[in-house]
Amino acid sequence: MIRAAYLADAGYEEALAEELRRSGRGIARWHGLLALSPDPPAPAAWALEVWDSPRGIPAPSIKAAADALRAIQRNWSLVPGAHHRRAALIEARLPPVKARPLVFPEPPPASHLGGWALLEPELILASPTKSSPFPGGVVRFVEDREGPPSRAYLKLWEALTRLGRHPQPGERCLDLGASPGGWSWALARLGARVRAVDKAPLDPRVLAMPGVEWVQESAFALSPEPVEWLFSDVICYPARLLALVRRWLPVARNLVCTVKFQGPTDHDIAAEFAAIPGAAVFHGAHNKHELTFARLAL
Ligand SMILES: C[S@@+](CC[C@H](N)C(=O)[O-])C[C@H]1O[C@@H](n2cnc3c(N)ncnc32)[C@H](O)[C@@H]1O
Repeated sequence: MIRAAYLADAGYEEALAEELRRSGRGIARWHGLLALSPDPPAPAAWALEVWDSPRGIPAPSIKAAADALRAIQRNWSLVPGAHHRRAALIEARLPPVKARPLVFPEPPPASHLGGWALLEPELILASPTKSSPFPGGVVRFVEDREGPPSRAYLKLWEALTRLGRHPQPGERCLDLGASPGGWSWALARLGARVRAVDKAPLDPRVLAMPGVEWVQESAFALSPEPVEWLFSDVICYPARLLALVRRWLPVARNLVCTVKFQGPTDHDIAAEFAAIPGAAVFHGAHNKHELTFARLAL
C-alpha cells in the first residue's frame, strides 16, 4: 500500500531518495519523478511537494477515471510518468486548472488542488491533498526581463512566496553575497532598505535604486548587528554558512539563506540546518543543487 508520494525536481531524484532513506522511509517504486512510499507521509526538503493521502482508484475507462476524480473534488494536477496518451485523455475530461503565473508578492492561490498519476493503464493514484498549491509543486511568476541583473531573484521570490512573508517597506535587509544584485533588486522593489555585501560589485542600476547601498566586504567579516532580515546567497561550504547563521540567529529577526552543495549532497549538514528551532528547509523549483533555509520570527 502506498501511504505517501514525494515529487522530485528533475535532476534531484537521488537527493530525495537519499533523504527518504536516511529518515527510514522506503520507496516502493518511482512513477516518473514521483517516489511512492509505503511509509507514513512526512516533510521532505528535496520534494517539490508531498502527497499525504494517496489512494488507488480503478480506471477501467477514461470516462470512469475522470468521473471518479471529479467525484472527489474539482481541481487536480497530473504528474506524468507512464501511459501518457491515456493520462492526457483523462486529464482532458477534468476541469482545467488555471495555473496563472503569480505577480510577486501576490499570495499563492487559495483553491484546493490534488495530485494524480496514472500508475497502470487501469489504475490511478490520487491524493486529494498535497503540500503545494501549485501544479507539480512549481510556482511560476510573471518575470521581469529588464530590471534584475540576474535570474536569482526568482529563487528569492519563490522562497518568500512559500514562506508567506516578505520584507515590508523600510525594513532593514542585509543581502550577503549580493552581486550582481538580483536579490537586492527584489528587496528594493519591496521598498526595503538593502545593505548589499559582496566583494564583487553590484550592478549600477541596482545600486542606484532608493535604499540600496553596497559594502565591499566578506560576509564572514561582519559583526552581527540587529536586522529585520538577513539574506545570504553566498557561495561557500555549507558548514561555513551554518556557522554564520548560528552567529546571526540571536540578532536577525528573519533569515533566508541558500545552502549550496558542491559534489554529493551533505545530508548531515542539511539536518543541522533543519534542527534549528523554527527552521524551514526546502528545495524550490528555482533552486539548483542547494536548499533554502529560513527561520522567520514568530
Ligand atoms: C550566486 S552569487 C549571488 C547572486 C545574487 N544573490 C543575485 O541575486 O544576483 C554568489 C555571490 O557570493 C559572493 N561571495 C562569495 N564569497 C563571499 C564572501 N565571503 N562574502 C560575500 N560574498 C561572497 C560571490 O562574489 C557571488 O557574487
